[in-house]
Amino acid sequence: MSVIYDSQTKQFALHTKSYSYIMQEKEGFLLHLYWGKTIMGDCSYMFREQGRAAFSPRMENCDGFILDDVPLEYPCWGRADMRTPALEITNPDGSVIVDLRVCGHRIESGKPAIKGLPAVYCESESECETLVIELIDSVSKVKAELYYCVLEDYDIITRYTKIINGGTESVQIDRAASASVDFDHIRYDVISNYGTHCRERNIERAPLKRGRYIMSSRRGASSHVHNPFLILTSPTADETSGDAYGFVLVYSGSFTAEIAANQFDSARAIIGLNPEAFSWKLEAGEEFTTPECVMTYSPNGLEQMSESFARVFRERLCRGKFRDVRRPVLLNSWEACYFGFDSERLMKIGDSCAELGIELMVIDDGWFGKRDDDRSSLGDWFVNEKKMPGGIKRISDHLAAKGVKLGIWFEPEMISPDSELYKAHPDWCLHYNNRPRSEGRYQLILDLTRQDVCDYIFESVAKILREGGISYVKWDFNRNMSEAGGSLLGADRQREVDFRYYLGLYSVLERLNQEFPDVLFESCSGGGGRFDAGMLYYMPQVWTSDNSDAVERLKIQYGTSLVYPMSAMSAHVSASPNHQTLHVTPFDSRFTVAMTGSFGYELDPTALSPEEQQKVRETASLYKEYGEVLAKGSYHRLRDPHAEDCAAWCFVSPDKSVCIAGYVLTHVRLYGNNERIALRGLEPDAVYKERFTGALYRGDQLMNFGLHAPTTLEYHSILWILEKQ
Ligand code: GLA
Repeated sequence: MSVIYDSQTKQFALHTKSYSYIMQEKEGFLLHLYWGKTIMGDCSYMFREQGRAAFSPRMENCDGFILDDVPLEYPCWGRADMRTPALEITNPDGSVIVDLRVCGHRIESGKPAIKGLPAVYCESESECETLVIELIDSVSKVKAELYYCVLEDYDIITRYTKIINGGTESVQIDRAASASVDFDHIRYDVISNYGTHCRERNIERAPLKRGRYIMSSRRGASSHVHNPFLILTSPTADETSGDAYGFVLVYSGSFTAEIAANQFDSARAIIGLNPEAFSWKLEAGEEFTTPECVMTYSPNGLEQMSESFARVFRERLCRGKFRDVRRPVLLNSWEACYFGFDSERLMKIGDSCAELGIELMVIDDGWFGKRDDDRSSLGDWFVNEKKMPGGIKRISDHLAAKGVKLGIWFEPEMISPDSELYKAHPDWCLHYNNRPRSEGRYQLILDLTRQDVCDYIFESVAKILREGGISYVKWDFNRNMSEAGGSLLGADRQREVDFRYYLGLYSVLERLNQEFPDVLFESCSGGGGRFDAGMLYYMPQVWTSDNSDAVERLKIQYGTSLVYPMSAMSAHVSASPNHQTLHVTPFDSRFTVAMTGSFGYELDPTALSPEEQQKVRETASLYKEYGEVLAKGSYHRLRDPHAEDCAAWCFVSPDKSVCIAGYVLTHVRLYGNNERIALRGLEPDAVYKERFTGALYRGDQLMNFGLHAPTTLEYHSILWILEKQ
């Protein structure tokens, strides 16, 4: 049993395969006692209160807790806890106070769906047990239900909160976190991520300092700048040893992830909607549910933490027929021709795809309206017949005859001021009437808080897909929100826009998923500006970054791999010199780096030399052969490109019979050293044969000594494929 309640001690214990999470009710408060390696028994003794804390009031006439010094499960603002709260509510009388006390609980098998929001699911009731702890504020009658869903075998606990207004008037929720965890000391490192367009999810690690450390987005998207995850480790933790705690939010809009080290040397981690970009008017009798937070703990370092997230996201967040299979080898037209294409050119590229073994060709931006650059036509989702006489059908028929499938790009959430749609509906974008509308990339964002706009988006994409011939959609989002007014919402609900926008988007995506189960959807936002668990629920892969340079991708993919599955990361071989960085890299290195995710090419195959075309043929075929290992294997980070002049990693198939390992040197070494790469995850006693050299190694040799990596030239790489004999 993964959820145990002891009515004597009033303790709630959640147990997964490798850890326990223990809470206790005391004087009505829900206290946090423990989160770490598996333990059993009465944990009451763990609760400790210092007894004196100047300037921090005691509850209930000096007899109760000093709330500011107590580890709480879902801290509220208004009484005497002065740390960052999880919940803040303004009452009808203007008071900003909510005082939740436990009033009940229930334990259910299975995992309830969260209405309108993406969430981890289970396939049978036995995979998950759910604890719901009920709390109430006896004055306002506001209730909260804290959900803890325990996926024991996945080593995962998910959390979210439902707030119910049991009073007679509306209240305003000013802040409602998805999860909050109190730690009783501050000896942790924080692993944070930072980035920008073309440099997403780079990693920093630093000791936790006193004060509040916040990674957040108020951009109306999870964003390139910070990704909605937070990792805490013990100071000496590395890939295979030490404590690692991870939190990932299943949401695509503005968020906050905070870790604070407080005055009494305790720490509080909070993750959820960004309160700076949010408030919610909750009428009497209504409910509000936060997005879900997925949490895991590993006593064996970062690798186990990453593997737990990767597994649950791959198997129990992603959905649909592409979930468990290697994805098709695709070629995307963007870096091949940008806006400069017509049907003839596309069909020539398609012919090359067929010759080279590429399974799917994607027509990127520029096929609709009158769009020849990024200044017009978003919203006008009808084919540009001038460029593409005979429409999409002519191209898909041409490709189908050669065995190549067709994909297509959309940016459905956007509207160009220069568009038919804008002429007809200038009020359909997010805006405030009396303010200018800032354009980003010459475009505005449609107001997805409106049902008519959501219906338009759904219908315009569905209409094209219903015509048939399309088996893949790249769904882009190329600016962040500003002047984000919802024209149908009252003045008192404007701070609801960010969250309502995502409820609208998720409803559109759900409808598309339901109607087009055979279409593979790929999420994109100028590359990885919305690479988050929310989008993964609807689209099992994401264009990782607009930076397609193999060397730059090393850091981006390393950071992404901390919490997301490699199968979710699209990685393409692009041309050299690279279009973003002008780096000149060998084809083999570009392949080695792209052979880590959902694979493809981002180049003009008709412009390649015969030797390069042969390389494409060989690499496409290698990916087809080993794509399953990449899709389902365990992933091991072996060398960190943030810290060293190289990167190395390996994938190991679930049955440990195949290992694919990569190594890239990012800075020239004038003289070689004794570089060797020790692998992980193999069978020690098995013998493995390396595909390209025929050399034989035992698993223990590969893991304890490793493989020589004699590369000295900048940007050169080695790819090893090892198969058990
Ligand atoms: C974004 C995407 C690119 C490409 C362009 C098209 O930047 O990330 O891959 O689709 O839009 O405009």
